[in-house]
Amino acid sequence: MTSSLEPTTTAPLPVVLDVDTGVDDALAVMFAVRSPRLDLRAISCVAGNADVDQVVANTLAVLDALDAPDVPVGRGAERPLVGPSRDARHIHGADGMGDQRLPASARLAADGGAIDLMRRAILESPDPVTLVPLAPMTNVALLLRAYPEVRDNLAGIVLMGGAVEGGNATAVAEFNVWHDPEAAAIVLGAGVPVTMYGLDVFSQVVVEAQTYEVLHGDPDPAVALAGRLLAHSHDVIRSDPRVGHGGLLGDAGAVCMVAQPDLLTTGRWPVHVELAPGRSRGQTVVDRRFVLGEDAVHGVDSLGHLVDVAVGVDAEGVRDLFLTTICAGPGASQVDDAARAVQR
Ligand code: RIB
Ligand code: CA
Repeated sequence: MTSSLEPTTTAPLPVVLDVDTGVDDALAVMFAVRSPRLDLRAISCVAGNADVDQVVANTLAVLDALDAPDVPVGRGAERPLVGPSRDARHIHGADGMGDQRLPASARLAADGGAIDLMRRAILESPDPVTLVPLAPMTNVALLLRAYPEVRDNLAGIVLMGGAVEGGNATAVAEFNVWHDPEAAAIVLGAGVPVTMYGLDVFSQVVVEAQTYEVLHGDPDPAVALAGRLLAHSHDVIRSDPRVGHGGLLGDAGAVCMVAQPDLLTTGRWPVHVELAPGRSRGQTVVDRRFVLGEDAVHGVDSLGHLVDVAVGVDAEGVRDLFLTTICAGPGASQVDDAARAVQR
């Protein structure tokens, strides 16, 4: 299995994002739009952090702030494959965007919905596309089940989801997988190379307060918005000693991996998604054993699907890549130098 993070050309890599914008999804969209290494072909929206219509509105508003009217946005699933939608507004605010009250976009989502938009964006790309789910994987599972032929033009899937150790939605499950475990299992087992950017690395990449405060004053609305979103993220997670010293880049880190894979360290192991009802539902069980276990010997349980699981990240490198990229966009001022200076 080739890794989904092995760029083969220096041309911008075609990417399609699937989002539940979302404070950190918004940061991810900013990076994807402004990175010269990426060619953002489409964004599909799914229920997760907020309801799908709010996610569409937030995504369009962020694209307006980026002056990126040409990126098509599709409205996808309103709820998981099984069970109700359970949002994360206690983290992302009532509007899903840290209550930034961005002006509503005049744009509309693409006709035909998210699944068709993803299908067309992938099949019409002259080069293989990297699909980047940053949300519950309901849309991606539906795409792969309805149009399996898209796998022929996918370079891979780089997803934010799961964890080797621990959870956030529950003690053992990460939100994107927990929200729709069946969809996650379908995606992992679809026969496309998958890189799993889980909580183990997601939680390490922060922008310190003295830096994001510098962004607040930037005349570029997108840079100023990034500063406010990072401040919101920091306010929400201050109680977590692991990440309390800054605002989480979150989903944006997964997109940075597509642009610069050498910032990430992965291991290739079987991953199983726990589907049984109960406290462990939605857990990603990463099997790092070196010796055959009795489960295999006695045929007790099927092994999971081989996945490139993130176990280490150059957090400062990701932070600097993100800041350099978004601050170099149109309208940015000298704040990028100030931001980097403060980081040292
Ligand atoms: O668990 C973190 C993930 O859940 C992030 O993608 C966040 O935006 C939410 O979707
Ligand atoms: Ca997300």
